[in-house]
Order: sequence, then structure tokens, then C-alpha cells
Amino acid sequence: MALQVELIPTGEIIRVVHPHRPCKLALGSDGVRVTMESALTARDRVGVQDFVLLENFTSEAAFIENLRRRFRENLIYTYIGPVLVSVNPYRDLQIYSRQHMERYRGVSFYEVPPHLFAVADTVYRALRTERRDQAVMISGESGAGKTEATKRLLQFYAETCPAPERGGAVRDQLLQSNPVLEAFGNAKTLRNDNSSRFGKYMDVQFDFKGAPVGGHILSYLLEKSRVVHQNHGERNFHVFYQLLEGGEEETLRRLGLERNAQSYLYLVKGQCAKVSSINDKSDWKVVRKALSVIDFTEDEVEDLLSIVASVLHLGNIHFAADEESNAQVTTENQLKYLTRLLGVEGSTLREDLTHRKIIAKGEELLSPLNLEQAAYARDALAKAVYSRTFTWLVEKINRSLASKDAESPSWRSTTVLGLLDIYGFEVFQHNSFEQFCINYCNEKLQQLFIELTLKSEQEEYEAEGIAWEPVQYFNNKIICDLVEEKFKGIISILDEECLRPGEATDLTFLEKLEDTVKLHPHFLTHKLADQRTRKSLGRGEFRLLHYAGEVTYSVTGFLDKNNDLLFRNLKETMCSSKNPIMSQCFDRSELSDKKRPETVATQFKMSLLQLVEILKSKEPAYIRCIKPNDAKQPGRFDEVLIRHQVKYLGLMENLRVRRAGFAYRRKYEAFLQRYKSLCPDTWPTWAGRPQDGVAVLVRHLNYKPEEYKMGRTKIFIRFPKTLFATEDALEVRRQSLATKIQASWRGFHWQQKFLRVKRSAICIQSWWRGTLGRRRAAKRKWAAQTIRRLIRGFILRHAPRCPENAFFLDHVRTSFLLTLRRQLPRNVLDTSWPTPPPALREASELLRDLCMKNMVWKYCRSISPEWKQQLQQKAVASEIFKGKKDNYPQSVPRLFISTRLGTDEISPRVLQALGSEPIQYAVPVVKYDRKGYRPRSRQLLLTPSAVVIVEDAKVKQRIDYANLTGISVSSLSDSLFVLHVQREDNKQKGDVVLQSDHVIETLTKTALSADRVNNININQGSITFAGGPGRDGIIDFTPGSELLITKAKNGHLAVVAPRLNSR
Ligand SMILES: Nc1ncnc2c1ncn2[C@@H]1O[C@H](COP(=O)(O)OP(=O)(O)OP(=O)(O)O)[C@@H](O)[C@H]1O
Ligand SMILES: [Mg+2]
Repeated sequence: MALQVELIPTGEIIRVVHPHRPCKLALGSDGVRVTMESALTARDRVGVQDFVLLENFTSEAAFIENLRRRFRENLIYTYIGPVLVSVNPYRDLQIYSRQHMERYRGVSFYEVPPHLFAVADTVYRALRTERRDQAVMISGESGAGKTEATKRLLQFYAETCPAPERGGAVRDQLLQSNPVLEAFGNAKTLRNDNSSRFGKYMDVQFDFKGAPVGGHILSYLLEKSRVVHQNHGERNFHVFYQLLEGGEEETLRRLGLERNAQSYLYLVKGQCAKVSSINDKSDWKVVRKALSVIDFTEDEVEDLLSIVASVLHLGNIHFAADEESNAQVTTENQLKYLTRLLGVEGSTLREDLTHRKIIAKGEELLSPLNLEQAAYARDALAKAVYSRTFTWLVEKINRSLASKDAESPSWRSTTVLGLLDIYGFEVFQHNSFEQFCINYCNEKLQQLFIELTLKSEQEEYEAEGIAWEPVQYFNNKIICDLVEEKFKGIISILDEECLRPGEATDLTFLEKLEDTVKLHPHFLTHKLADQRTRKSLGRGEFRLLHYAGEVTYSVTGFLDKNNDLLFRNLKETMCSSKNPIMSQCFDRSELSDKKRPETVATQFKMSLLQLVEILKSKEPAYIRCIKPNDAKQPGRFDEVLIRHQVKYLGLMENLRVRRAGFAYRRKYEAFLQRYKSLCPDTWPTWAGRPQDGVAVLVRHLNYKPEEYKMGRTKIFIRFPKTLFATEDALEVRRQSLATKIQASWRGFHWQQKFLRVKRSAICIQSWWRGTLGRRRAAKRKWAAQTIRRLIRGFILRHAPRCPENAFFLDHVRTSFLLTLRRQLPRNVLDTSWPTPPPALREASELLRDLCMKNMVWKYCRSISPEWKQQLQQKAVASEIFKGKKDNYPQSVPRLFISTRLGTDEISPRVLQALGSEPIQYAVPVVKYDRKGYRPRSRQLLLTPSAVVIVEDAKVKQRIDYANLTGISVSSLSDSLFVLHVQREDNKQKGDVVLQSDHVIETLTKTALSADRVNNININQGSITFAGGPGRDGIIDFTPGSELLITKAKNGHLAVVAPRLNSR
């Protein structure tokens, strides 16, 4: 939290900047201190904000100078301790906005510059926290700003207090009751354009949550003489002008009114129906709207307006004297309207206005009135109608303000805040009965103020055992007694004069007064005054030396006004009125009541006593309003006028008491609780008595002995400055405490979090370890069982399948199959195969067969036609020669080639000779003559039908396959072979002895082409062949070290061939 100083029209204000709102300055604790201190000095910049801080506090001049300096800067509020002094600025200072309300909410009184809202908030908080009823007493002379202050206070509560759970309209009604009451009860006077002509005490009820839930208004003595008469420059009550200016055409027509105030005698007595500062038209709109907010029905509004209009018509009733000087009504039209508006009989009213009913000897007589008497009766009726309507209006407003929870138990838990806005002390050139009452009222309130502040202050010091230098102040009880004392007081004498039989007049009253109170130091008349003063006093006047100054009252009208006489016949007629408001105002029981009604002064005295009791039961707060000038002008500071007010408001005395005393006091417990953090010995707790703790604390804070005193239950601090310094220190301390608390909290928070995480981790770990352990144990168990089963199975492996060995056998089988799957032969030549268990031997063989077949199948599918042919030929070769001829094995890896001679190597003539016959195979061979066995190079060609022997370009011999009877070869490694030809074929020269380097290939291809695979003979020793007709040749084969082909001496062809160990 940081603090920020903001400039507002009332001076500087320290504002708590909330952490989530941007703060212009990032202040450390030092920063806060600097800000606080600068705020402190700022407090004193324009004069002093609390008169208690005035150097020369006994000087009235210094007091007024401070007021002036601040007023010049538009700082209209200054404190005297808890009392707020307010100077009417007569201009809108823009200091009552919502923003201002927020700034003053929840802030300690001394932390902010003086303001009405500071008082409002302090009062409200006391109401909420201490749950004690509060009363704000606003005093000051007419035009000083009491009503404005009341309105601002109400506005503050309406806007800042929480809304009630039920009856949320109360807030609006509280606010809206004002314009209505002002319309009916305020008027323009010489002192004030909106002068309250009645006293008002308003209770606002708050529920336990601090929400306004209801209200109640007490009104005091409406100045009803204003209805029929106004001094020069003054007006009647606002409502008349408002209705005429703002009322709709239709309404006025209905009420029989003209839109012209000049037409109504009651409105022009002061000759000032129009006032520039007042806008009656717009005010009327406000009033009309407010009426509906405070629960007026349309009918009620209509009835109310009828009454207002009837007063105006009454004023225009004229009389003329007949021959006998009896008054007669001459204004028929007015009478007609009156009859309708008041709902009375026309003829009765006419009679009532010109006659008086007298009861003599039990008989009722009507005595005619003269002109003067008739006018008196008319005015009395107007005043009675208006004032009773006003009383009804207050009651009506009270009904709508009444707490809706009044019946429920929560009613008991409400607290009350009273606002007293009563007419201020008044001094005119001519002061009458009304001023007497008003000033008496102010005397009473001053008395209360003295009792509650000055006296109670002294009493408190005494009770606390603190030495007290008595302060001289003027106690106005003596004046109050002069007015209200029984038998000897002015009111008693006035009442006596009103009641006594015989000719009592205002002057006889004055005489009586002179007789009774002549020795009173505050009372003077022409007769009692000394030579000098006598000049300023008329014969029909008396002077009271009020606490606020001298006021000379003219006794004229005192008796009448005190009697407040309304002729009985008029009362009777009004009681029968059809206007519902009138019938409520004039109650029939009044007629039958034989007791004389209380006089006005006595009624007023009683109501004031009641008010004082109400106020005494509450915690008071004071707002003392001062009027800066009589001209209602902004910026004008009339020193004489202000000095006068300062004096009569008792402000200097108030200050003196404050300074002689102490600016601040608190119960030890509360003080220690608040400031204990400022001293290491008292922080965080003090074990001993609170008083001792406070003593230690203030010693630590270096309070000087003159700065404070220790009472029995409270500490008293003399200067606000000391308290400011302590508050500032607290603010700084709070900052560091907050940091510490934050740090510890964060530490604690993270430690908790860490412990939580740790606990969780341990929990997860143990759970996981448990799981792992269980899994491992289960696995081990399973393994042990498996091993056991395997061993048992192994032991019984040769036994027939039974439960004991089934697992083992299955396992052996499975593992064989799994092994087999892994170790399957990779190709057809791979002969490896895992050894099967005995039980699977048969299956193994089948599988092996299948596997082989599968591999062969796959292999066959994948080979090319050429390769297939190659293999087929190789297979045939194998069939013929494998194991039979020594050089066969060498031929196996060598591929057979489709032909060993290309067509380019064969003579074209041979090709031509062969014609269309294709050559399937061609190979160079050596041919051995049949006789000499001489080797000759030849080509052997295979066609689809014959073996053709070619010598260079000539076909030497063609052996059709049909004639090829067989082929002979030796079993040795030589490469000779004999093609045996049909002997009967004479075309043939005999068998052919040939040698080919690729003998296996050549013979295989030849056998295949000629389909003589089974006709190849492999001979061991010798081959006999037909050398020519009737002549056979023999070839002898003998194994030897190397190949040798010679003609033997025996004529045989001897072939020595190495024996290869391949067979
Ligand atoms: N705080 C203020 N700011 C601005 N103008 C103010 C303030 N207080 C009073 N005034 C002006 O002064 C006028 C008179 O004030 P207000 O009616 O409150 O006086 P009052 O003390 O109630 O007088 P009375 O005793 O005659 O009723 C207001 O109409 C208003 O113009
Ligand atoms: Mg007022």
C-alpha cells in the first residue's frame, strides 16, 4: 500500500492507493514517510485546518484571520477539535462529488482535510462500530448553510451506505422528502432565498449492516404568519409560486388559478414575487416528481393542490361593510372556488367568514363581524389550513419513510442518526413572536451544546483525575430560564395574559413582563432602560440580551399569535370538509374537547424540551455554520458579521476549552491496541495493565510531558500534531509490518505447499513401491510355480499326458515351435532344422515338409523362364550323369549356355542348307575319324529334328533324331562321346565319335532335343561303335594321370583319362 497526495479544492488529501490501482510513485517506506510528512505540512499550508493548532488561540482576531485566509482559498471547512466550522461559500465549489465521498470514506478524521463528509463518515462509523445513536447538530444563523449541509449529509449516506435488503426505496424517499418539505416550509427572506421557516429534526434509521432502512421527521413551529403576510422583499412559501409558474394549464384551470402571482394578495405583500436566484418552474417539476417518490397518489396530490389553491383564493376574499358596519363577502367567485376546493358548503363558509359563534349561557349565538374582524377570521383560517396541511404533510412523509421492518425483531437492532436543521438565530428590524420563538430555540440548543461539550469536557477531566484549569465561558442557562421558567418566565407570563379574563392586550402583557422580570440582567424595556438605551427602544418593545446578541421584540401580535385563535364556526365547517386532507387536519374531537388548547409558545417549549431529550440520548456531532456576508455574495468576507457569529456561536470558548484540554483522548486499551506495534516492548502483546503498556509506549515514542496526560482510564494527548506524528509512524510501521507479514505468509505458504508436495511425493512413491513390490512378488511366485511345474513335468515327461506334465509338455512344444519360428531354414538348400521333442517328431516332419514345399514353391514362383530351363536341363544332366561320370561334378556349377556358337560363326551355307530349320544349340566339337581316329574340328548343331555335324561350310552329317539310337560316354573324366546311329540307315556313315569341351551340356541338350534321355549309356571300360557298314570300332577307356587320346596298337582308340574323386 502506498500513499499519494492529491490536490483537491478543499486542500490536500492523503489518499490510500490500492495495490490493484496504478500508483504514480512507487514508494518505499521512506517514500511513504516523505509523502506523509509533506501531507502534514500541506495540512497547515493555508492557515490551520484545526483551530486547536492556532498559536494565539485566545485571540479572536487570529481566529478570524485564519477563517479569512482559508475562505480566500475556498477552504470553507475548519475544525475545532471534532466540531466542524463551515463558512457559506455562496458558490458551487464542486466538493461534494461521488469522488469526494469515496475519498472521505473509512479514513481517519485527522488524516484528511476538514470536510463535511469527514464528519459524516466519522459519525457513520461510530454508529456502526459502537452501535450508539448519533446526532449531527447543524447550527448557524439564517442563510449560513444549515439546510445545504443537511442535504449533503443525506446525499452522502444515500450514496455511500450499503443498500438495504428490503425497502431500497427508502434512500430515494429520504432524499426526495427534502424538495417537498422545502416547497411547503421554505421561503425567500431578506437573509436567505431558501430560508427554512420551520425547524426540522430528521432521524435516519440504519440496520445492523449499516443500510438506511427508514426515517422519521419532526417539524417545529412553522412560521405560519408568512401565509398571510410577508415583510418587504420577502415571499410567501415557495409552493404557491411554484404551482403558479410550473403547474399545467389544466391543473390551474381546475383550481381556478391564474398564472400570475400578482393576482394573489397573499403573494405580493413583500412585493417580490419574482426572485432571480429561484426557478419556480423547474423547482415545481422536482417537487411533482418527489411527491410520487414519497408515495403520494394522484388523488392525494390533487387534494393537496386544492388546499394550496384554496389558501390563495382565501387571500383574495374581500369584504365590504353593510349599513350596520357588518362585513359581507364581496368576492363570489373566490367563494365558489373555495367551496369546491375545500369541499364545504358555500353558504356556511360565507356565514363563517363574517360571523363568530359565541356560546353564552349554554346557547350558541352568531355574532356578526366587522371588516377588521372578518379579515382576521379569513387570515386565521388561511394560516390554520396551511399550517395543519404542513403538519399532515410531515406525517404523510413519515408514513412513507417508516421502516418497513418496523414490526420485525430487526427493528430493535437499528441505530439512529439524527440530523437537526433548525432555523438559525434571527435578528430583524422588527422582530415578533416568531423571532422570539426561533431565538429561544437557539438558546436551548446553545445550552445543550454547552452541556454536551464544554461541561462534559470538564467533567471528563475531573472523572479522569486530570488537573483542569477552569475555562470561563458564558452559560446561557440564565436566558433560557428567563424565557421558559414556570410562573416567572416570559412564556408563562404570556400564557397567563392570554388566558386571563378581561381585556388583555399585547401592552398589558408587556407591563406584566416588566413587573415580573424587571430585575433580570438580560431583559430590558423602554421603561426599565437607562437614559441612553431607552432611545433605541419603543414603548411596545422589550429587549432580550441573548447569548448571541441583543434582540428587540415588538409585542404587537404576541397574544394573538400565541392564542392562535380560529373561530369555532370556522373550525366546525372545516371539520366537515370533503377534502380528505382537510378532514384529517381538522378533527371533530377538537370541537368536543372542552380543555383549552395549549398555547403556541407552550407547545413550542414542550416540543423543544422533547427535542433536547432526544438529542441528549445521542452522541452529538456539531457543524457550526457561518454566513460570510449579508449580500449572499461569493468571496465576500464581512468581518463584523463573522465576528458576531463567532462570538454567539461560542466558537472561541469552544476553542479555549479544547486547548485547555486535550485534542485527543482514548481508552488505554484502544490506544494500546492501535499503536502497540510502534514499541518493541508492547509488540506484539503487552502482558501487563493497558495503562502501563501505554506509558511504556509513549515513553518509547518520546512524548514530551506537556504533550500528554495519563488519566484513570484514558490517555489524553494535548496536540493533534503529536497524534499526527504517531499516526504517521504507525503508517510507516504498518508498511514494514505488512512486508514482514507478507514475507512470513509467503514463507509459510510455500512451506505448506512444499510439505504438501513432499507428502504427495512420498505417498506416490510408497504406493508405487508397493505396486512394484507386489508385481515382483507375484512374478516370483509365478516363476516358482512355473519352475515347479516344469520340474514336475520334466520328471514325468515320458509318462502319458497328465495334469502334472501337461504344462511341461506344452512348454516343450511351445518352445520348440517358437524356436522353430526363429530358426526356420532360410532357403531350399538350408537343411538345418531344430531337433523336435519326441512328442512332436511327426509334426516336425510334416512341418519340415511343408516348410520345404513352401520354400520350393516360393522359389519356383520367383525364378525366370530362362533359369527354369537352365534348371530343368541341369536336372536332366544330373539324372543322367550324377554319380556316373567323373567330370560331371565340374559341370554342375557352370551354367549351360543356350548356344556356344553364334549365327555369325556358322557358315551361311550351312544355315541355308538347314533352311527354315532353327538352330537350337551349336557347339564346336572334335570329330575322330572312324578309321584313323584323326581328330577333326567340326561344329555340332541341334535342330528340332536332327543333330547336324558341320565341317566349315558343309553339312558333313545329319542324324535325324529318329535315327539316333543312343549316345555313349565313358565314366571317366574325358569328354568323348559316341552318337549311335541306326545301322539300317544306309545314308549314315556309321556312329560318330565326337569330343566336346562341354560334354555334359552338349549331351544333355542333345538328349533333350532328341528325346534320348534314357538312351545315354555310360560305360566303364570301352565303347563299341559302328565304324561303317559291317565294321565296328572300339574305344578303350582307362584311368590315368592325364588325358591322352591315341590310337592303340590294337586298332582301338585308347583314351586315358584322369580319375576324379568325385564319384
Ligand atoms: N456549502 C455550500 N456550498 C455552496 N452554496 C451554499 C453552501 N451552503 C449554503 N449555500 C448557499 O447558501 C444558501 C443558504 O443556505 P441554507 O438554505 O442552507 O441556509 P440555512 O442555514 O438553512 O438558512 P435558514 O436558517 O434560513 O434556513 C443556499 O441556498 C446556497 O445557495
Ligand atoms: Mg435552512
